[in-house]
Amino acid sequence: MMKHIEEVKNNLQDEIKLVTTLKDADQLKIKYLGRKGIINDLMRIIPTIPSDQRASFGQQINSLKVEITNIIEELIKKFSSETVPKAKKEIFDVTLPGKHPFVGKRHPLTQTIDDIKEVFARLGFDVAYGPEVESEYYNFEALNIPADHPSRTDFDTFYIKNDVLLRSQTSTVQIRIMEKQKPPIRIIAPGRVYRPDTVDARHSFMFHQVEGLLVDEGVSFADLKGVLNQFIKTYFGQNVQMRLRPSFFPFTEPSAEVDISCSICGGNGCSVCSYSGWVEILGAGMVDPNVFKAVHYDAEKYTGFAFGMGVERITMLKYGINDIRLFYENDMRFLSQF
Ligand code: PHE
Repeated sequence: MMKHIEEVKNNLQDEIKLVTTLKDADQLKIKYLGRKGIINDLMRIIPTIPSDQRASFGQQINSLKVEITNIIEELIKKFSSETVPKAKKEIFDVTLPGKHPFVGKRHPLTQTIDDIKEVFARLGFDVAYGPEVESEYYNFEALNIPADHPSRTDFDTFYIKNDVLLRSQTSTVQIRIMEKQKPPIRIIAPGRVYRPDTVDARHSFMFHQVEGLLVDEGVSFADLKGVLNQFIKTYFGQNVQMRLRPSFFPFTEPSAEVDISCSICGGNGCSVCSYSGWVEILGAGMVDPNVFKAVHYDAEKYTGFAFGMGVERITMLKYGINDIRLFYENDMRFLSQF
């Protein structure tokens, strides 16, 4: 019987040498200490042993069990403490380069519209919107452009059916706002407009405008100039110059076209400004009394100014973009630069 116990001890010593992982140690535990393990096998022989030897055999098995338990638990402890930091190291290797998460951005035209809104918000302007599908009344008649007016061709228009059209200018929103509100009025109106132009580097059948309208008592052309100057200096930079040229719009009188010193060449002359040093960015003027008549405002009491600018155009000037089509192609190589 004692031979049995010695054999078990020797075998265990050999097997311990083969343990290299936590799994090996666990398996050894099952082999020796499990329900059908070697120790339990020895226990089962106890009743068959002559009674005078039984007690001492039992004691020896018990001390063997304690000894084996200690050895195996020690092994388990050793390998589990080794395994944990090893696994941690594999998961959190702080020396590996990180992955760049993909971050979405606003479209450059949306950014420009947001920038414009911010500048005018500081000057007390609210933001207003109007429909893109319009009637002739809002796109033309109320803006002092009757059916036979020669300037209708300047605002060439997509017709959906008789008297239903895609607006060719955001000036429609002037009328919609003044119909609903009494002065004082101070709004900007960003949005899409449509004109049947052939698409090329400078033209598109759809583009964006921001309209501005201010109506109150005693508003003068000097106020218009002051507001536009403030906008241009804030948006393009303090060094950019502004100039006004006399022009004509049916809904403003007097009217002006507003140029800025070319932001690409700094006014020295380049292909963008046709070597003039100036580029046109918007149309503006004092609201024509006929427009006030259409919305039942007292033209004796109120005066106001309006302006309209092309969003694509000012974005192209600010960032030196030479082809309007880039805005609509959704090419990530272009869009991710803004
Ligand atoms: N609606 C004009 C255009 O599209 C711009 C403009 C707006 C001019 C307001 C004067 C006043 O060209």
